[in-house]
Amino acid sequence: MRKKILEMLRARQPEPVSGKELADKLAVSRTAVWKHIQTLKNQGYEIDSIPKRGYILRSVPDKLSPEEVEPRLETKWVGRHLLYKERIRSSNELAKACAQQQPDLPDGFTVVAEEQSSGHGRLTRGWFSPYGHGVWVSVVLKPPFLPQEAPKCTLLAAVAVIKAINKYKGVHAVIKWPNDVLLNGRKMVGILTEMSAEFGHINYVVIGTGINVNVPPEIIPEEIRPLAVSLQDAAEEPVRRVDVLADYLKNIEELYELVLAQGFKPVFDEWRKYTNTLGQAVKVMAPDETYTGTAVDIDEEGLLVVRRDDGTLTKVIAGDVSIRPAAAKDGAYA
Ligand code: BTN
Repeated sequence: MRKKILEMLRARQPEPVSGKELADKLAVSRTAVWKHIQTLKNQGYEIDSIPKRGYILRSVPDKLSPEEVEPRLETKWVGRHLLYKERIRSSNELAKACAQQQPDLPDGFTVVAEEQSSGHGRLTRGWFSPYGHGVWVSVVLKPPFLPQEAPKCTLLAAVAVIKAINKYKGVHAVIKWPNDVLLNGRKMVGILTEMSAEFGHINYVVIGTGINVNVPPEIIPEEIRPLAVSLQDAAEEPVRRVDVLADYLKNIEELYELVLAQGFKPVFDEWRKYTNTLGQAVKVMAPDETYTGTAVDIDEEGLLVVRRDDGTLTKVIAGDVSIRPAAAKDGAYA
C-alpha cells in the first residue's frame, strides 16, 4: 500500500495528489492514507500536506530500501527479489543462508544492507561497512557451468562494478587482478565470491560486493584509512547510492547473459580494458611460495599469467598479487 502511495506521489511530483484520489485509487479510507503518509514521513520521506490540495513528495531518503531501489532498477531478473536489511552481520552470510534453506530461491536474488557488523573479505579480512555510506550487496546466481568456472564470476563482477562507477565525471578507477577496484592506488571496492557446489554442479554462487560510495575518511578506522577511498572523493558530481546499486545490478545481468550466450571471452576482453595489472612488475604471494615477475595476461580461464624474473611462465591460481611501483626499488610494493 505504501509503495503504491509513493508511486503515485512520485509520478505527480512536484504537483500534489489529493487524499481523496489516493483513497479512491487504493480503495481505502482517507484516514488509512493519512496513516501511511505518517509512516513514510517517519521513514525519512519529506511529504508536505497542503490543505484542500493534497500531498506533495518533496524529497526521498538516501536508503537502499525496495521503495527506493525498485523504481530505479532496469533489470529483468537480477535484484527483482530484493531482501533489504538496515543492519546485518554480512550480506554474503545471509544470501548463503537463504540459498541453503530455499533450494528454489530465484536466480538473481539479492541481499542489500545499510550496515554490516561483520562484513568480510578474502583471506579472512574484514570489510568496514558503516551505516548508510556504501553499497553492501550480495547477488545469488545459479550458473549452469562447472564449479571450476565460478571464480570467473569475480572478474565479471569487477567489470560490472567498474562500469557503474567510472561513468561518474572525474572517476577513473582500475581493476587490480583479480577483483580489487582501486582509485589512485586506494581501494574503493572489494568483491568476495563464494560458492556451494557438488561434483560437476554448482548449487549457487554468491557475489558479495562492497562499494565505498561516500564513506567520510574521518570515520574509517585509522589503520585502513590510508588504503581506502570513496567514490564521492573523486566524483565531480553528487553520487546517489541507489544509482550505483541499480547500475551495478544492471551490468551484472547484462554481462552474465553475455556469458551464457558466448562464454567468458567478452568479459575478459572488457576486464583487460580496465585493469592496471597487465604489463606491471608484480610480487606474487602464493600459498606455497613468493616470487616476482611481470604480469603478462589473463588466460582463457581468467588466471593471471606471470613471466617470472627467470623467464618461466606461471599461472596464478591462488594468493595475493601486489604491483611494484615503476620508480620503486625491490621491496616496495603496492
Ligand atoms: C575483499 O576485498 O577482500 C572483498 C571484500 C568484500 C566485501 C563485501 S561487502 C558485501 C559482501 N558481504 C560481505 O561480508 N562481504 C562482501
